[in-house]
Amino acid sequence: MKILGLETSCDETAAAVVQDGRKLLSNVIYSQIDLHKEFGGVVPEVAARSHIETILPVIEKALSRAKTSWDNIDAIATTYGPGLPGALLVGVTSARTLALAKNKPLIPVNHVHAHIYANWLLKIEPVFPVLALVVSGGHSQLVLLKDHTNYQLLGQTQDDAIGEAFDKVSKMLGLGYPGGPAIAQAASKGNPYKYSFPTAKLAGRYDFSFSGLKTAVLRQLQLMVKKDYTFPSFKLSALLSHKQKIDVAASFQRVAVETLVDVTLKAYKDYLPKTVVIAGGVASNLELRKALTDKLPIAITYAPAELCTDNAAMIASLGYYQSQQPSANIKFANPLELESVPSLSM
Ligand code: KG4
Ligand code: ZN
Repeated sequence: MKILGLETSCDETAAAVVQDGRKLLSNVIYSQIDLHKEFGGVVPEVAARSHIETILPVIEKALSRAKTSWDNIDAIATTYGPGLPGALLVGVTSARTLALAKNKPLIPVNHVHAHIYANWLLKIEPVFPVLALVVSGGHSQLVLLKDHTNYQLLGQTQDDAIGEAFDKVSKMLGLGYPGGPAIAQAASKGNPYKYSFPTAKLAGRYDFSFSGLKTAVLRQLQLMVKKDYTFPSFKLSALLSHKQKIDVAASFQRVAVETLVDVTLKAYKDYLPKTVVIAGGVASNLELRKALTDKLPIAITYAPAELCTDNAAMIASLGYYQSQQPSANIKFANPLELESVPSLSM
């Protein structure tokens, strides 16, 4: 069964063709990073407009790279939430229209759930129960999957997503956007024990919090340049030395990674899953992969970077498994009715 996946929830316009949930036939991603770079973050209106311009060429490319015509597509799977409202609307409207015009079943997919399915596109198939750490620019969640559609949300961030924290700290340090790769690169040359930042203590056993860490970094930077909280944060980086920046980046990354690893390890010991996977843009962080590999008693599974960040292959993969479920309301949506849900949760 060949599924065309569509993804437009944030700043990537993506389409992919996946066979039977696991075989990647094409994976086309048009990243808008260059459009948003000068603003230091994603501008929702700019994102939506760019999705409109690129969605059809991206779909055409995905079909041609998969050497597949519309006749051979069995269904269309699309992200319907969570995400930016205007951005989501483009993918959902395109999927609805194409489902009607081409007479294909339409499968609505939850973007966060789908991130986990990047791991189904690898050689070795994850075995249930699967413990999944989903860490991206918009989400930080720990999920226990009993099967493809039956899962339990164990914990999540109480404030900022981890990727958001990387992006904001990068901005304070003047390292650029997106912040994750920039921080990781700076951190590789810095001393991770130079500064000690606090980790949050939370009521939920598997919850995270990153806004305190972000503020602690800000206070540390203000202290280093002898300014108080009234000083504009975007002016801090000009007063910092290279050494200070790389040491702050390394110390921040160490604490962020420790927080994620501690919670994952706790959940592993409590639930003893057969497989542990990491997913989402931040899963491409090498220090996080290394720390989880060192600490967990079983090997962790992670996808290559282009499948960790937003893509449509993961949407097509989860779409396939949904289509195989007995319950009709999980499987398909009415193309005349499917609405995007920006605040969709797991
Ligand atoms: O999954 P994704 O493409 O978008 C969302 O669904 O949010 O994740 C993007 C996030 C950004 O915050 C980016 O800074 C972060 O993933 N990221 C990283 C790395 N590569 C990307 N964070 C830490 N280390 C990396 N190597
Ligand atoms: Zn995402």
